[in-house]
Amino acid sequence: MAPPRAPSSFLLLAGAAILLGLAAGAARASNEEGDALYALRMRLSDPNGVLQSWDPTLVNPCTWFHVTCDSASRVVRLDLGNSNVSGSIGPELSRLVNLQYLELYRNNLDGEIPKELGKLKNLISLDLYANKLTGRIPKSLSKLSSLRFMRLNNNKLAGSIPRELAKLSNLKVIDLSNNDLCGTIPVDGPFSSFPLRSFENNSRLNGPELQGLVSYDFGC
Ligand SMILES: *[C@@H]1O[C@H](CO)[C@@H](O)[C@H](O)[C@H]1NC(C)=O
Ligand SMILES: *[C@@H]1O[C@H](CO)[C@@H](O)[C@H](O)[C@H]1NC(C)=O
Repeated sequence: MAPPRAPSSFLLLAGAAILLGLAAGAARASNEEGDALYALRMRLSDPNGVLQSWDPTLVNPCTWFHVTCDSASRVVRLDLGNSNVSGSIGPELSRLVNLQYLELYRNNLDGEIPKELGKLKNLISLDLYANKLTGRIPKSLSKLSSLRFMRLNNNKLAGSIPRELAKLSNLKVIDLSNNDLCGTIPVDGPFSSFPLRSFENNSRLNGPELQGLVSYDFGC
């Protein structure tokens, strides 16, 4: 036994605990990405409990199921395909500025595609297919300059295909089939190589727009 040493090691431990607590508190307070994901959890109905591990008191969301971070603890993937969640996507996900893969396919998501998703400058893949999304395809998605895959098929999207999407020079795959889109199909940029099946079963969508003509999207 060495009673004289006890107080100092106790103080040391207490001090370390306080410092750790402060550090965790500071990191937690600044975890914008965890807050954004937790806001999504709050707006979704989750009958299968796939979001149960999303604990907002943790330092960052990197240990949560269906969330992937890079080595700097920044969220780069959200994988919630086939998860039986319902509700609306909401604008908060636009705060995941490092996100590369947004996989929300085959759920029961409704409401509109938030225009704020256009802020996800690093996004490579936007997979929202097989949900119940309504409204128009936001023009702002044309700002996703890294995007390679955009699959919005099998929803209830209406309106025309924004011409601005032709600016997405990295886009390799688009699928807008099985929606309620109207107007004509752009022909510029990446649209020059997309197959027509990417647009099929949109009963009010006409063929590719005619070269040299401003798009005819009357009543659309
Ligand atoms: C999805 O959730 C509903 C309840 O909202 C439930 O009835 C159904 O069985 C679930 N489906 C799957 C595949 O888990
Ligand atoms: C066409 O798309 C609608 C809307 O998504 C869907 O309900 C319907 O089953 C599709 N029809 C075919 C033949 O795929």
